[in-house]
Amino acid sequence: MTEYTVAIEPLGAEVTCREDQTVLDACLREGIWLPHACTHGTCGTCKAEVLEGEVNYGDASPYALLESEREEGAALLCVATPREDLTVEAEVDVEEGVDIHPVRDYTGVIESVEEAGPRVRKVIIAADTPVSFNPGQYVSLASPTGEVRPYSIASTPQDPSRIELHIQLSDGGVVTEGWVFKSLAAGDRVSFTGPYGKFSWRPLREQPVVLLGSGTGLAPLKSMVRHVAETGSGHQVVLYHGVATRDDLYDKEFFTELDEQNDWFSYRPALSKDTWNDRTGRVPALLAEDYPRAAGNVAYICGNPAMVTDTMKALMKARLFPRDIYREDFFDSADRAAGTNVVRSPLIKR
Ligand SMILES: Cc1cc2nc3c(=O)[nH]c(=O)nc-3n(C[C@H](O)[C@H](O)[C@H](O)COP(=O)(O)OP(=O)(O)OC[C@H]3O[C@@H](n4cnc5c(N)ncnc54)[C@H](O)[C@@H]3O)c2cc1C
Ligand code: FES
Repeated sequence: MTEYTVAIEPLGAEVTCREDQTVLDACLREGIWLPHACTHGTCGTCKAEVLEGEVNYGDASPYALLESEREEGAALLCVATPREDLTVEAEVDVEEGVDIHPVRDYTGVIESVEEAGPRVRKVIIAADTPVSFNPGQYVSLASPTGEVRPYSIASTPQDPSRIELHIQLSDGGVVTEGWVFKSLAAGDRVSFTGPYGKFSWRPLREQPVVLLGSGTGLAPLKSMVRHVAETGSGHQVVLYHGVATRDDLYDKEFFTELDEQNDWFSYRPALSKDTWNDRTGRVPALLAEDYPRAAGNVAYICGNPAMVTDTMKALMKARLFPRDIYREDFFDSADRAAGTNVVRSPLIKR
């Protein structure tokens, strides 16, 4: 297999990259952190300038990388592979206090598959080797047919040998309907890579934290809540979990008990077709009721892209600056085909 040298500016670093390997993968495996979110050519977060050399653009969504941007020398590093030695200029903005965990290949055995809700399965993987990650990050899980999908880690770095994933059924979905909800069972061997993503707990931000998730967008937020509980970091945390009805809420016993036993934590289910504490409404609506002014908080939003965008708008209307908001959009193949949810504003953290 031919290998090329990729120089990363402004770092002045060099990595070796195989001709079938993406530039992002080569960098993350060497511990060189570059911005990325979806790792599937959908969101545009990893866009960088190719200063020297030719790339194969890979499976870049035409919405995330416009033809005009290609012509100007841009590429999506999560799908671009080298055709020769390269020099690439990327936006490198590693934040103080955020650990960098090189991407690794992992294997493990399925410890349990639990029906967490009508359309959600909680999957626990006992990893063969400890998995290093920051709360909020995700892994890419490979199906037996070789399809790879991102899933956020709901467990905490304090227990690196067991990875908890929350997987929602997607009608017609290759990996969910075709595998996880069809045949995945305890004892099966699986492989995954990671950790990935920029959506991770910022330990040095001491402001009160507002976590806002819909559906399985709860997964990385659960990791953060448990991390605060296990490390005793002292953060004040409010968690909103948006689903349709009480039956769709999962892990409610865990969060209710945590709320009852701790002053630092508040659990606020947001039910669009049901009530909880006499309230009905989606996450952005309840948030607007509770926070006429949100300035002074740090917010983490995660879930389907429409909910994430609506919640982002609600927070900004309540005067929270984009620099205080972190988001993870659960883009899927339909979002990719539609191309409607590419976030272009440089102000918005992803
Ligand atoms: C960073 C990140 C983290 C994520 N974390 C989680 C998580 O923790 N939990 C979770 O449940 N999900 C998560 N997701 C979503 C997850 O990765 C998958 O997208 C989801 O599970 C669907 O996979 P699938 O193979 O079953 O569906 P796919 O086969 O990818 O299809 C998804 C949907 O799109 C439709 N579709 C497929 N192709 C097209 C097309 N060409 N045009 C129109 N529609 C199409 C399908 O019918 C289906 O309804 C995350 C996504 C990202 C980007
Ligand atoms: S991380 Fe490359 S397009 Fe999303």
